[in-house]
Amino acid sequence: MRRLFEKLGVPVLEGNVLVVALVLAVGHLLLIAWAAIRLQINVPTCVVSDPTLLEPSFQQVEEDRYQVNVVASMWKFEPATIRVPVGTTLDVFLSSRDVIHGYFIKDTTLNLMAIPGAIGNAQIRFDEPGEYPVFCHEYCGSGHHLMMGNIEVVAGLETAVAVGIRSPGEAAPPEVAFSPMAEAGKAVSLKYGCVACHSLDGTKLVGPTFQGIWGREETLVDGTVITVDEDYLHESILQPNAKIVKGYLPNMMPPLPIPEEEVQQMIAYLREFSTQAK
Ligand code: CUA
Repeated sequence: MRRLFEKLGVPVLEGNVLVVALVLAVGHLLLIAWAAIRLQINVPTCVVSDPTLLEPSFQQVEEDRYQVNVVASMWKFEPATIRVPVGTTLDVFLSSRDVIHGYFIKDTTLNLMAIPGAIGNAQIRFDEPGEYPVFCHEYCGSGHHLMMGNIEVVAGLETAVAVGIRSPGEAAPPEVAFSPMAEAGKAVSLKYGCVACHSLDGTKLVGPTFQGIWGREETLVDGTVITVDEDYLHESILQPNAKIVKGYLPNMMPPLPIPEEEVQQMIAYLREFSTQAK
């Protein structure tokens, strides 16, 4: 080795350092290859800029193989809930609309980071039926701990679905036109982060879904049945603890001491959203 260094005109110390660095670099690559090939561990890859991957979607690509494009944003995954048959290989493409998020499917080796401007990709095969919760594992703000999803692996399932995602060819839902009052209410709901806990697509999160909330009958924790109307919403926005819907104990919602005007706007939004958008 020393002779080789002399021939190349490299001082011995520098030469040794170079050799060590080279061995470490090659060893690192070999370990990655070993993990991917022998241990069958998913080595996450980064896919470069394909705008079609930045929109939430779900589709079958082969028999037993589905592709899902998950978009992370504060504080939700779209789609959040995915239902697939046992034996499915899920090809996950992950992107972020705002800050850095994580996507970890519990009890699996699939663990990706959602980095704004980049697309993460990994595959996972589900051979065991069950529920696989998904967590955001990068701290992303006050709603971080609420950022969850779920993958349901069902034996004998005929049609795989991603809740809230249209399948290709399915007609787009009609555009919903809100009144100015309801538009303002929508902005209020974003301002206070309501949708972090109340889904718009029927998914059960920390609080009851906003989908179809207006006029819905709810059973409260004390057994009384109420119909969601203006009075109920008004009270629940200001004092969430007053009447809690069964299944949502303990109450996680803080009281919102917000101006009456905003309360009215929120109510208008919830009424129009749940009666127009189905
Ligand atoms: Cu998203 Cu933590």
